[in-house]
Amino acid sequence: MCNRGIVIGFQKGSIFMKLRDFYRIIMFVIAVMVFTICVTSCSSEGVNSQAGTVSVLDNGLALTPPMGWNSWNAFEADIDEWKIKKIADAMVDSGMRDAGYTYLVLDDGWMASSRDSNGNLVADPNKFPSGMKTIGDYIHSKGLKFGIYEDRGHWTCQQLPGSFEHEQADMNKFASWGVDYIKMDSCFAENNGRLSSVDYALYRNCITKTGRPMVLSISDFGNGAWTWGGEEMAQLWRTSYDIYPWMDSVYYCADTSAGDHSIHPAFNGLWQFAGPGHWNDPDMLQVGNLAKDIENKAHFSLWCILAAPLMAGNDLRSMSDSVKNILTAPEVIKVNQDPRGIQGYKVYDNGDQEIYNKPLQDGTTAVLLLNKGPEPANITINWETIGLSGRQKVRDLWKQKDLGYYEDSFTTENLPQHGHILIKVGTTGPELAAPAPLPLDKYTVTKSGTTYLSDLYYIWKNGEHPRKDKNYNNNPITINGITYNKGLGCKDDTKIMYKLNNRADRFKAVVGLDDSYSGNSTGRFRIYNEDLFGNRVLFESGDMHKGSPAKNIDLDVRGVKCLLLVFEGDNVLGDWANAQAIAIN
Ligand code: GAL
Repeated sequence: MCNRGIVIGFQKGSIFMKLRDFYRIIMFVIAVMVFTICVTSCSSEGVNSQAGTVSVLDNGLALTPPMGWNSWNAFEADIDEWKIKKIADAMVDSGMRDAGYTYLVLDDGWMASSRDSNGNLVADPNKFPSGMKTIGDYIHSKGLKFGIYEDRGHWTCQQLPGSFEHEQADMNKFASWGVDYIKMDSCFAENNGRLSSVDYALYRNCITKTGRPMVLSISDFGNGAWTWGGEEMAQLWRTSYDIYPWMDSVYYCADTSAGDHSIHPAFNGLWQFAGPGHWNDPDMLQVGNLAKDIENKAHFSLWCILAAPLMAGNDLRSMSDSVKNILTAPEVIKVNQDPRGIQGYKVYDNGDQEIYNKPLQDGTTAVLLLNKGPEPANITINWETIGLSGRQKVRDLWKQKDLGYYEDSFTTENLPQHGHILIKVGTTGPELAAPAPLPLDKYTVTKSGTTYLSDLYYIWKNGEHPRKDKNYNNNPITINGITYNKGLGCKDDTKIMYKLNNRADRFKAVVGLDDSYSGNSTGRFRIYNEDLFGNRVLFESGDMHKGSPAKNIDLDVRGVKCLLLVFEGDNVLGDWANAQAIAIN
């Protein structure tokens, strides 16, 4: 089977593609075409603008993806100073620190259940009797950096004191303890009444005021920090819900960053939002917590090619040699830490087999060929797919071994499930072109007059992919007998975010259940400014039934960066007819 020169050889039993796979290939080909058009139509300046972009924070932090260890995946809230000191020792003794894992981050569960009488955060006296400054000093004495967890709500997820309304005082406290890295979570933050972008900008400013450089890690369960400009506030942001120690979860989290779980397929994942100083974070590593080494390796290879933060989450005190060898594999880590900072992107995905490409600073490129599917498979990468041709040198980065020179393509055979090969292709020289980001006018409002949302790619979604200019069943949008040529057709719970980019003045739409729906369930339409956390509801339809009169929406959206459209229903078809943003000037 061929696709743009890539040949996949299937073993017996996997010849018949599932419909889902066919759909994914079509979507993938569209995505490849979109960015191929971009690559060929942009000037070389445009092409290179992605490579080497520096975060607007530009404070020299996290110029490569942060590496370290975090307590949550191994221990959840069951942490104390004795355990953490042993972990710090193990980070040094195992060679993890020298391999690059420098941040030791205490996740939720380190603090006392209430603040002291002066309103200060304090460590849990039973778990950390020596206090946080002492544990920080110990971590620093080992040549490591000290990271800590907090939450921007009233409470952390473990219902310990959150930083809401204590922002500056808490950041000052962290600085006085010698903290180098803050993971700022979002439990209970929907009650803050602040937009996420406002909330995280507040923390960024409070951190700056302390005078201590501290990495800020946004933990918002993948609600879409890249949509509202997370890179202006933080060095990394979560793209997913929590990761668990099984492969479905690992692959799901990887795909929130590399696939279309959380963004329109035309983006081909979130690679265009990452770069030095600002990284997509598909959550912390489960390497060492998975059932088999082949799974641990596949997980690690994916995080490395995706330029994801590498925060180990296994119990380092009892780590096996094979897990240690995976986490410290030097040439695999080098791919992750490449200073060019391009997030690897998919160049092939048929639902079971995937190929990722990550152009490196030295002019070579790293390629991951991965079989996720249950059947053994051969995978071939054609050089033309990754901007190369002719005879190319190939090196196996796990084996640290040159495999020789390959003409036009490279094939790996009989890969079992989770089997993969991570190779470096080419010789050193000028950098290979990185694909250009999607042009702004494809996904934001850039012009005066009317922009129909169905003519833009959404920038975040949760639930089913909405239909453009059709109802969900691909028939004309019809409400109360009126047919609309433009709009979005949804079914069941669907949240879709569009980036208005502060450019639009008004948003207009007509909403109602599609006339083709004949059931008795209700549907409900709401519009939020930005994401759900700010709880800024701009429109609420209330429950609508079949035949309910359509509701006209006409909103002032000046100053709105992102508009979140939420439809809720159970097996119901709902339409955002004529949904449009209007920019007066
Ligand atoms: C979750 C977060 C996890 C962990 C946990 C602590 O919200 O996604 O990574 O920090 O809270 O309670």
